[in-house]
Amino acid sequence: MAKGSALASIQISLVLLLAIFVCSEANRLDPYYCCRGKETNITVYLQVFTGGPNTTSVAVAGAPGKPRTPSNFGTIIVNDFNITQGISNNSPTIGRAQGIEIASSRDGSRSLGIFSLIFSNFKYNGSTLEFQGAGYNLQVGSPAREDPIVGGTKTFRFARGYAFFQTVLRRPARNNTVIRGDITVISCPGGGKF
Ligand SMILES: *[C@@H]1O[C@H](CO)[C@@H](O)[C@H](O)[C@H]1NC(C)=O
Ligand SMILES: *[C@@H]1O[C@H](CO)[C@@H](O)[C@H](O)[C@H]1NC(C)=O
Ligand SMILES: *[C@@H]1O[C@H](CO)[C@@H](O)[C@H](O)[C@H]1NC(C)=O
Ligand SMILES: *[C@@H]1O[C@H](CO)[C@@H](O)[C@H](O)[C@H]1NC(C)=O
Ligand SMILES: *[C@@H]1O[C@H](CO)[C@@H](O)[C@H](O)[C@H]1NC(C)=O
Repeated sequence: MAKGSALASIQISLVLLLAIFVCSEANRLDPYYCCRGKETNITVYLQVFTGGPNTTSVAVAGAPGKPRTPSNFGTIIVNDFNITQGISNNSPTIGRAQGIEIASSRDGSRSLGIFSLIFSNFKYNGSTLEFQGAGYNLQVGSPAREDPIVGGTKTFRFARGYAFFQTVLRRPARNNTVIRGDITVISCPGGGKF
């Protein structure tokens, strides 16, 4: 009986050792496997224009008989924002934020965001980060929201992380708001190598 359980614990130890060995061995051969990840912080500014000739947001669907406004439950808005390095619209463009936002709560306070940040700056050119989450609806005046990062490409393969988005500038006369994103992303070192 005692002998049997001692044998079992030796077997479990062997399995654990093997798992650790396989992981570190695989890690040596394949940078993606058992990846501990590298943390990167990135701050970006999303330039939102809700009207006028250069609008970045179009409401494409909504609840029957209701105006397609960001606060009405069911409204679906497609966005394509410039992402800039600084708060000014004239600051260097470092990419685009493209995706959809759905007014997902009956009271309009939350929206489901599904969007990509598509980088075009020198450092992350061609890499993307994928976001998905039902956060507070910034378009109805909420001050901030947090969205999870659910994936990425190129430099950000196997990405996970989160970002805080907050409205930092409102210029209603120009139909313009600027949203700052403070992104913390963990991805695999070597993920950018082809
Ligand atoms: C990134 O930002 C977070 C939150 O502010 C901080 O805890 C972390 O140390 C930062 N990481 C790096 C690599 O700068
Ligand atoms: C703001 O948006 C409204 C509605 O689309 C439009 O009529 C107006 O011309 C826009 N103003 C500017 C400065 O783009
Ligand atoms: C729209 O974009 C064009 C081209 O970038 C620019 O010349 C024009 O001033 C912009 N209009 C507004 C109202 O921002
Ligand atoms: C976005 O940036 C491009 C240049 O990168 C510029 O031509 C365009 O006018 C900008 N659009 C808006 C809406 O700011
Ligand atoms: C980003 O990549 C594209 C396509 O490969 C290239 O045309 C562009 O010059 C690059 N931009 C930067 C800033 O490196």
